Amino acid sequence: MSQPAVIIAFGGVSPEHEVSVITAMQAAAALKEKPYRLVPLYITKQGFWFTGPRLLELETYKDLKSLESEAHSCHFAIDEHGKTVLLSGKSGLFSKPETIAIKAVIVAFHGSEGENGSFQGLCEQYNLPYTGCGVTASALGMDKRLAKRICKSEGIPVVDDVWVTETDWSAGPDSIIADIEKLGYPVFVKPVHLGSSIGVMKARTREDLQEAIETAFRYDSHLIVEKAVSPLIEINCSVLGSGADAEASVCEQPLSRDELLSFEDKYLGDAGKGMASATRHIPAPVSDELTLVIRETSLRLFRLLDCSGLVRLDFLVEKESGTFYFNEINTIPGSFSFYLWDKSGSTFPGILDKMIQIAEMRHREKNGRVRSYETNLLSTKAVRGLKGLKGKG
Ligand SMILES: Nc1ncnc2c1ncn2[C@@H]1O[C@H](COP(=O)(O)OP(=O)(O)O)[C@@H](O)[C@H]1O
Ligand SMILES: [Mg+2]
Repeated sequence: MSQPAVIIAFGGVSPEHEVSVITAMQAAAALKEKPYRLVPLYITKQGFWFTGPRLLELETYKDLKSLESEAHSCHFAIDEHGKTVLLSGKSGLFSKPETIAIKAVIVAFHGSEGENGSFQGLCEQYNLPYTGCGVTASALGMDKRLAKRICKSEGIPVVDDVWVTETDWSAGPDSIIADIEKLGYPVFVKPVHLGSSIGVMKARTREDLQEAIETAFRYDSHLIVEKAVSPLIEINCSVLGSGADAEASVCEQPLSRDELLSFEDKYLGDAGKGMASATRHIPAPVSDELTLVIRETSLRLFRLLDCSGLVRLDFLVEKESGTFYFNEINTIPGSFSFYLWDKSGSTFPGILDKMIQIAEMRHREKNGRVRSYETNLLSTKAVRGLKGLKGKG
């Protein structure tokens, strides 16, 4: 069999589908200088899995309909040795299905099942090494409420909020509105499980608030409403590593034309460049003390939420007082935050290499532990003593 492949998995049924394509193409370009055999695993917006060399070119994605005719369908399968492979389907009349051995999977999805622990769980089930956070950290990273709640219990500052579920809102919005108004306007309304500013709205009045909540429910059944930090500076910091062996990058201050960093600011500024094209200051022009505390808090959060690989922690800072709050964790940040690592002395190929090594190390560790017992507890001898299997007998 040929060289085991590094699979790069991206796209997916997610509002951030295109952003993921950009991140994956950037990573693929960076990995050209490494001796890996890189194989794409592209999940369409409808959830179909495809592979094929053309899927490593950004051009291919300009026409999502014709793309499918240039690619092969594929899926994970377990071979006769018990190893997971990528099985790519037949394309033409004379081509054979291909069995691709897997070294590791680079998880480059943004949002939904690719980032919330579901795809990570699939990799666990297939016993594949995969980059980034495991199931729990991914799920926590995708839940703005729970991540904040854990931080709060550990004394990490977060902005006051009110949780709103669609069920409670439908049952009667009055008491929810009253709770929110105790925070004081303006407030930010956010879907709990989304990213890239999708569905995030600022509300200055009760009317705005009701409209923002109704709109946000189109994206998610759970929302948080937060007091607005104003005047605001946003500071982000990336962390790379595993367990106690993790490192924080320089901090960035992303800039926006508007009051909130929109999807357009983040990804559509310079087509093809993704998160790397948003305007920002690196390093963030804040005091050394604040930089230090944000980097330390980022490392603390990385361990607290049991992260692995590369993440980005986002903070909201009140400009005048310098008070900072943890806002959210991105377990698969746009463009893998490579621009922060460039400025921290690591190259993009270098960080991807490290992410792959960490994935393989975690996989070795997992497989080194007792995961099941050789003895069959259901063998005839063992079962004889078990009560209840034969009714009352
Ligand atoms: N409490 C807040 N106060 C001020 N601005 C906020 C607040 N929460 C969010 N924002 C603005 O909205 C943007 C998107 O919100 P965020 O929580 O980061 O969601 P997303 O996961 O969609 O990126 C932030 O980058 C920031 O500009
Ligand atoms: Mg954000």
